[in-house]
Amino acid sequence: MSEPMPNRRKFLATVGALGGASILMSSPGASAASASAAKEKLAIDGGTPVRQDTLYSQPYGPQFYDDVERQGVLDVLESRNPFRWWKDDSKVLQFEQLYAQQLGVKHALGVTSGTTALYTAMAALEIGPGDEVILPAWTWYADYDAVVLCGGLPVFAEIDGSLSIDPEDIEHRITPRTKAIVPCSLQGGVADMDPIMEIARKHKVRVLEDLSQCVGGRYHGQFLGSIGHIAINSFQLGKTITAGEGGAVVTNDPELFERALRFHDVGAIRSPYTEQFNGGVLASFAACNFRMNEFTGAVLKGQVQKLDMICQRLRANAKRVRDGIADLPGLKMRKMSDPEGDLGVTVFLDHGDREHRDKFLRALRAEGIAASGPGGSVILPVDERIEKKMTVHPDWPTFNTPQGKAIQYGAECCPRTIDIIDRTGGVIMDPNFSEDDCNDIVKAIRKVYLAMHA
Ligand SMILES: Cc1ncc(COP(=O)(O)O)c(C=O)c1O
Repeated sequence: MSEPMPNRRKFLATVGALGGASILMSSPGASAASASAAKEKLAIDGGTPVRQDTLYSQPYGPQFYDDVERQGVLDVLESRNPFRWWKDDSKVLQFEQLYAQQLGVKHALGVTSGTTALYTAMAALEIGPGDEVILPAWTWYADYDAVVLCGGLPVFAEIDGSLSIDPEDIEHRITPRTKAIVPCSLQGGVADMDPIMEIARKHKVRVLEDLSQCVGGRYHGQFLGSIGHIAINSFQLGKTITAGEGGAVVTNDPELFERALRFHDVGAIRSPYTEQFNGGVLASFAACNFRMNEFTGAVLKGQVQKLDMICQRLRANAKRVRDGIADLPGLKMRKMSDPEGDLGVTVFLDHGDREHRDKFLRALRAEGIAASGPGGSVILPVDERIEKKMTVHPDWPTFNTPQGKAIQYGAECCPRTIDIIDRTGGVIMDPNFSEDDCNDIVKAIRKVYLAMHA
């Protein structure tokens, strides 16, 4: 299985092997740029690189671990009780309250991972055999697996230039069996939520936001997670804030929250939630244990307080780079549904096709800037186990309904997604990049772009 975020050290080790050939060639659609600028010899062709060392981003959250997280973990150790329920001052509960406040939602629940958050949210939405769920063709395995593991049928929609689900490719996939749409806000980009919510309202289907790769992202002033009926995210290492692992389910709907609470904890509802929900309105049902432990809660309680600062730094750095290259002739940046709310994780360009993208990235790496195509997700319909509809048991309900038997995955169901992922690439940003670092990225992109489009 590929890693959620590319291991950049490993990735960079491959750069030398990739480099070598001249990349001076023209790309379709780009107008001619200044000839003098194009004369600067690229590092890949033997010129002087913009940087001697290589600039690459690191996981964001751990760069800001300090006494807040340290004291939180120590408190849990000293309490000799890392179990969330049997104590009055639960760190998990404090994290849940802070996170709900931060996102502007009524309820937040800490769980063990983004994957178990997805299972929990699917259970809250009562997704089961015969139900269809619409997902983007490019996202993480867990979005597909969660649907299959509750017996539902995943239906893929294409992404657009934002790398998130294309709202225009959703409606014609809705059937009387469609129960939910899962817009995933990927690589720091914000899914275009207004048209998605409009379609959901029209067809009376639920929206489950997956903001794992865009925690802290905003859409038209609202935090992601507060727009759909329910939302989930991961706190795994590659996410905006992290405890190594962890996840959350958030919602404004008390009944969805009660169902999530029960599903994540053996069908039970416990204090202080018992009091908050007056014992609850739902009967218990078969469930799981996806409870967050107190160590994770302590770290995440600290990290939530740093979320705004991390997002501000990322956004400022990405803007500095975008502004520094905006005048390049014919430049096509990644589409943004809300430039203010975009997290600033990437400065990605549309290079027209894979060949030009790969040449651009090789040349940028030779200049000392780690560069990559879109990562952290998979083109799911072409993954072998998905294309072959593999399940843990041959009688699994997902693919034994008439619709499940008829559905075909594979490259034919997402040609546009494959093309967009192939032609997109650029730089992953870091909240701790300095002004000089950002200026080097600008210098390197300009140098390579002008040479390629001379
Ligand atoms: C979009 C998305 N959803 C869900 C997950 C699953 O999260 P976890 O790894 O915490 O289970 C990930 C993880 O990378 C993700 O990127």
